[in-house]
This record gives sequence, structure tokens and C-alpha cells, in this order.
Amino acid sequence: MSWFRTVGARLSLALLVVVAGVLAFVYLLVVPSLEHRLVGSRQDQAATVAARVAETLGARQNTLSKCDVAIRFAAATNTRVTIFAVNNRSPLLLSDFCDEGAGGSGIEDDAVAERSAETFSPARGVVTRGTLRYAEAAQPAGDNVVLVGSSLEDSFKTVALVKNRVLISALIALVAALLLGLGGARIFANRIRNLERAAERIANGKFDEPIEDSSPDELGQLARAFDRMRLRLAGLEHARREFIANASHELRTPLFSLGGHLELLLDEDLDDSTKREFLGRMREQVDRLTKLAGELLDLSRLDAGRLRVDRDPVDLSHVAELLVEEFEARAQGSDHRLEPEIDGVATGLGDEPRILQVGRALVENALRHTPGGTHVRVRTGRDGERVFLVVEDDGPGIGPEEAVQVFERFYRGDGTGRASGSGLGLAIARELAEHMGGTVELSSIDGWTSFTLALPAVAAAPEPVPVP
Ligand SMILES: Nc1ncnc2c1ncn2[C@@H]1O[C@H](COP(=O)(O)OP(=O)(O)O)[C@@H](O)[C@H]1O
Ligand SMILES: [Mg+2]
Repeated sequence: MSWFRTVGARLSLALLVVVAGVLAFVYLLVVPSLEHRLVGSRQDQAATVAARVAETLGARQNTLSKCDVAIRFAAATNTRVTIFAVNNRSPLLLSDFCDEGAGGSGIEDDAVAERSAETFSPARGVVTRGTLRYAEAAQPAGDNVVLVGSSLEDSFKTVALVKNRVLISALIALVAALLLGLGGARIFANRIRNLERAAERIANGKFDEPIEDSSPDELGQLARAFDRMRLRLAGLEHARREFIANASHELRTPLFSLGGHLELLLDEDLDDSTKREFLGRMREQVDRLTKLAGELLDLSRLDAGRLRVDRDPVDLSHVAELLVEEFEARAQGSDHRLEPEIDGVATGLGDEPRILQVGRALVENALRHTPGGTHVRVRTGRDGERVFLVVEDDGPGIGPEEAVQVFERFYRGDGTGRASGSGLGLAIARELAEHMGGTVELSSIDGWTSFTLALPAVAAAPEPVPVP
């Protein structure tokens, strides 16, 4: 990247432009106005002295000569006081003059005094004599014109000093701006580069290195957002790997078993009953594989957000009846007692096949993960805005540590020793329920377990208004 395109270069240039602009403003506007004010104040001072000289000359009790008055005022005010006698009959002529004070050079031709004499009104201006400049004010006084001059050298020295200082500070400010811009930008550029490297690492699938920037500014906030993204991606990546590992393991087990049985069927000379037994076991494995394939498909659809669920009115009591009917034979086979407990109509909003799927997962678990002799009850109910389908059993129960895990994908408890499922049943049940705007919750104590599917209830139909 060319230097001019870096943040540092841009920042320094921006600072330079701002500083240069401010200094140019000071130099071009403030300095001339300072000069103007200093000259103006000197002229005011000269005009005041001229007015007072004129007043003194005009006073009746004045006994001093013109030149004495000039000398006194010049000494008292540190100015040069000149009094011209004016012959105002024929062409204006400055006839004689009295010149006292600093400098002392003769005045042959003074523009300010002449203007005052011509117009018979006060005049002021700046005149140059040799290399020196003076602020002058003239004031007519009877047959005289009083001219007061005050040296401007001090004022111009002050202005020159200010100019000088402004230039020096300009230089220092420009260098400081440049250094500050470059230094500040370097710090920022380093932090930005850190973030860039972190993004590269994440893009390459390396999530282990944390992104650290504890400062509270926007870059710090960006870094923290990046780190949250890193953790989330790491979690997703971990889940993805685990999912693939678990899914392949789940696929391999029944395939392995199928392959083994096939070998046996092909190789050995088996009697009919053994063959039938093998075929029965193979059928179990095929069922297991089919179920797993269905579950994986559901999960992938859920993950991709492609699973469509309807929100139609469904009577959960009817679903409960169907479930009991469907599982009755199996319950008998495994020595469980399966009972419905239906309390009127409980109509909720959902997708009937999906509600049945959730119910099947719950009933199947209650039959599979509890020992023979266990009671399993399928209940329905309604509570204000929600309707419930509850599957409860009086099996050994699920401990609190296990309870937080049972809804995780591929989690299988090993308590019952009969856990031959894939560990996906409850994970899918919960996600399906959430897609229908409901929940699946577990509550369990020693000797009692209940899983509850809750769905939004359909608002009860309004009471028919009796016709009078
Ligand atoms: N009614 C129940 N009683 C005891 N444990 C249960 C019950 N239902 C579920 N579990 C536990 O929760 C785990 C996860 O269930 P599930 O997700 O359906 O997977 P799977 O049934 O395939 O093992 C089960 O392995 C089991 O340990
Ligand atoms: Mg299950």
C-alpha cells in the first residue's frame, strides 16, 4: 500500500491542513487587525494631546508662549508637538512654526497639518520621515494648527514580535501535528492490523487465539465484537465436528452389524430358525438406520430453516389417544403400563404430524429408558393461554446433572442400559416444539419423570348469545 493511502498519512495530512488553516487565519487576519488597532490607538492619543494643546492655547488665562506650551506638552506626553501659525487670508500658508519634542527634524511639508489647516477641522494620519513612521493628529486652534506626532516604532516592534512568534509557533505546531498524526496513526494502524490478522486467522478456521484490546474506544468495541464472533464460530465449528463424528458413528454401528449378519448368512450353513433370528436382527438394524436417516434429515432441515410447520388447531387429547393406541402393544411387550388420562378437549395450534412425532419421541423414551413394571401416563390439559401434552412415568427419574443434557443432540444416558437410540429424539422434539411456538420441558424427581409439550391454545369460542 502506498504511504499516502495509509491511515497515518491521511491523519497527519488532515492535522497539517487544520493547523496550517488556523495559523494562516491568525497571520492574515489577527496580525493586521492588531497593527491597525495599535496605530489607531496612537492616533487617538495624539488627537487627545492636540485637543488639549489647542484648548490651552485658546484659554484666556494662558500666559505661556506657543513654544512653551509645545515644550511642556511634548515633555509630558512623550510626543512631538508642533504649532503652526496660519495665515488664512490669501492662499493657505503655514507661516511660522514652533516644533518641540523627540526627533526635532523640521517640518516643511506636513500633509496632516496642511489638511487640518485647509479644512479647519481635526485631521489624522500616518507619515514617514526617513525610516521612522509617526501617527499624527492635527487640530486647528484660532490662527494656529497644532500637530501632535507620536512615534510608531514601538507599535511596529510589537507587531513584528507577534508576527515572529506566530511564525515560530506555526512551525512548531506544524511539526507537532505531523508527529502527532504519524504517531497516533501508527498506534491505530497497529491495532487495526491486529484485527486484520485476527480476521485472517478466523477465515482460516483458527479460533483458538483470543482477540485482545481492552480500550473502551470504537476499535476496542470492534475487537470485542470480533472476539464474540470468534467464540460463536468456534462453538459452531465444534458442534459441526461433533455432529459429523456422532452421525458417522451412529451410521457405522448398525451398518457394521448388518454387514456381520450378512456375512454369517452367506458363509455359514445355518438352520432356518437361526436364519430367521438373524433376519429379524437385520430388520431391527435397518429400522434403526431408517429412523436415524429420518432424524438427520429433520435436523438438517431445522438447521437450514427449511422445515415448514403448520399452525392449525389440533386437539391434543386426540393425539394422546392415537399415541396410546400406537404404543399399546409395545408397552405390553416391554412389561409397561401405558394409560391415557384425557381431560376434555385441549385444542392448541400446531402441526398434527409434528405433534405426533414429538409425542412418539416422549412415549418411546418413557418405555425405553425405564425398567419393566413402570407406569407411563399420557395426559392432556389446558392452562389459560397454553395446552399441554404430558408424558410421565414413575421410572427411576433423571438426575439434575443429566437433566441439563438430555435435550442436547446425540446425548444418551447410560442409566438404563437399554439406550439404543441415537440421542436425537429429545433435541428434535424440543426444536419442533419451538418451531410451533411451544416448548418441551422436563421435570423429574426420584421415581417420577414428566416431559411436557406446551403449545399456544386456540382461543375458546365465544359463548353463543341466547336468542330471546
Ligand atoms: N422418561 C425417561 N426416563 C429416564 N431417562 C430418560 C427418559 N427420557 C429420556 N431419558 C434420557 O434422555 C436421553 C436422551 O433421550 P433422547 O434424546 O430421546 O435420545 P435416545 O432416546 O435416542 O437415547 C436418553 O438416552 C435417556 O438417558
Ligand atoms: Mg429417544
